[in-house]
Amino acid sequence: MELGHLPVLAEEVMQMLAPRPGSLHVDGTVGGGGHTERILEAASPDGRVLGLDADPAAIARVGERLARFGDRLVLRQANFQDLATVAPEAGFPAVDGILLDLGLSSFQLADPARGFSFRAGGRLDMRFDPGTGRPAAELLAELDEGELGDLFRRYGEEPHARRIARAVVEARRAAPVTTAEAFASLVERVVPRRPGRAGRIHPATRVFQALRIAVNGELDALEVALDAAVALLRPGGRLVVLAYHSLEDRLVKRFVAAERRGCTCPPSFPVCVCGRAPRLRPVGPQPAMPTEAEVAANPRARSARLRTAERLAA
Ligand SMILES: C[S@@+](CC[C@H](N)C(=O)[O-])C[C@H]1O[C@@H](n2cnc3c(N)ncnc32)[C@H](O)[C@@H]1O
Repeated sequence: MELGHLPVLAEEVMQMLAPRPGSLHVDGTVGGGGHTERILEAASPDGRVLGLDADPAAIARVGERLARFGDRLVLRQANFQDLATVAPEAGFPAVDGILLDLGLSSFQLADPARGFSFRAGGRLDMRFDPGTGRPAAELLAELDEGELGDLFRRYGEEPHARRIARAVVEARRAAPVTTAEAFASLVERVVPRRPGRAGRIHPATRVFQALRIAVNGELDALEVALDAAVALLRPGGRLVVLAYHSLEDRLVKRFVAAERRGCTCPPSFPVCVCGRAPRLRPVGPQPAMPTEAEVAANPRARSARLRTAERLAA
């Protein structure tokens, strides 16, 4: 695994983005650079890619690994929620395609210093950009029981949210919960392992996801980025989003449906007064999912859902 992170649904993403010589693309989540590299190869000799990542380590790594593409690859450490300003400033005011491959990379998951995983362990940080925001350990130390319960339920869809929140508050009276190991074993103590196949999933999986979403404001960032992406696409340009959990996928699905409809007037209105025209049309399967062979080769692809939409002429 020379890449360290295998790009998910790479063939499907490429088919949907259809890079060609001279095209301009934005990869809003450059990660290990797997998708970026494929786009640059297909857009040879002169197509260009703007690659963003909130994580400075990802930008540094990809800058080195893909240096052979020279100025065809422009990299910026930035949150994709700032797409509307970052892209024009970087020389990409209107583009042919935008990719968002959400969540975290295998590099981040495996690094104990980032605290993303109970398997890797380490201090609970979970920030994509370690230079901004509050680390996960701080949320566990400072939110009250009600807020923690809401967070676990809302972002983790965790049925035992209240019980886990109570256990965190009780545990931190003795000592703060600061490491991935300590938090995972606390959850394991209070949440029964489910019987059968479901029991193979660690009981802390959902609350780890919830913390990460909260730490990075992931759903808010996605909502802002989707809107900015539509404005940045040329007519016929495509937005491709890979989501790994139902909250994100639902948000993307609803966004595309709303942009397909355009008009936001209540159905009881005899005529449209909002004047909003449809801006997107869905393309391809909604959603596309990995084959069994891909999941066998890359278990991280298991929960991937890919949605593509095309920008309509204004
Ligand atoms: C699943 S990985 C992308 C993998 C990449 N497609 C590849 O082929 O290697 C997701 C990346 O998106 C970054 N990321 C997540 N949310 C972000 C945001 N709001 N803005 C910028 N980057 C973000 C993470 O730091 C991570 O590196």
